[in-house]
Amino acid sequence: MLKLINHPLITHKLSLIRRKETGTRDFRQNISEIAGLMAYEITRDLPLREIVIDTPLSSCSTAELSREIILVPVLRAGLGMVDGITALITTARVGHIGLVRDHETLAPMEYYAKFPADISEAVVMVLDPMLATGGSASAAISAVKKRGAVTIRLVCIVGAPEGVTRVEKDHPDVDIYLAALDSHLNENGYIVPGLGDAGDRLFGTV
Ligand code: PRP
Ligand code: URA
Repeated sequence: MLKLINHPLITHKLSLIRRKETGTRDFRQNISEIAGLMAYEITRDLPLREIVIDTPLSSCSTAELSREIILVPVLRAGLGMVDGITALITTARVGHIGLVRDHETLAPMEYYAKFPADISEAVVMVLDPMLATGGSASAAISAVKKRGAVTIRLVCIVGAPEGVTRVEKDHPDVDIYLAALDSHLNENGYIVPGLGDAGDRLFGTV
């Protein structure tokens, strides 16, 4: 299921990162802040378990998160979303998957993967700012499923309809969260209007 996250702060920051004149520092900061704002919305339905704790004054019936959250950024650009989310979910463990698109075929190639042990009980959030053809997201989801993940949320900032269709077809059990659903892909597989190459803009490698 596709969920578009609509919030005035996200829209404002999205306009900043879309601007071609925005430099690496502001791009990086706003990607991180958007990811944090998205995480706030995405975690709204997380289950809680009831607990009893002691305050300095008395005992208190309250609740805490009952499931662990694991973040899986897709290298490189997904890295830019990690700090904004761990600022809110400080105990989240982080796995990494390295994927790069072949410029000709647009097919993703895996070059690195390292995950925390036993991710089967956790809520796994796969992070990548860009959902273009959906090849990278689909491969990243397959990689976490291979390690046992069951509850998986794909968190991207800008998506194209082609990418949404691909992930919905390959992984109908995965919820997709986007801050913006753009018009289409161009002939080079870039999202239009999009924001350009997220990894290059994030790390200043343009
Ligand atoms: C970008 C982006 C996604 C992928 C999206 O990464 O960060 O991972 O492209 O495209 P897709 O939906 O068509 O697969 P890229 O392959 O450019 O690698 P990079 O992050 O190292 O620059
Ligand atoms: N990857 C990006 O970084 N940007 C796009 O528009 C498509 C894929």
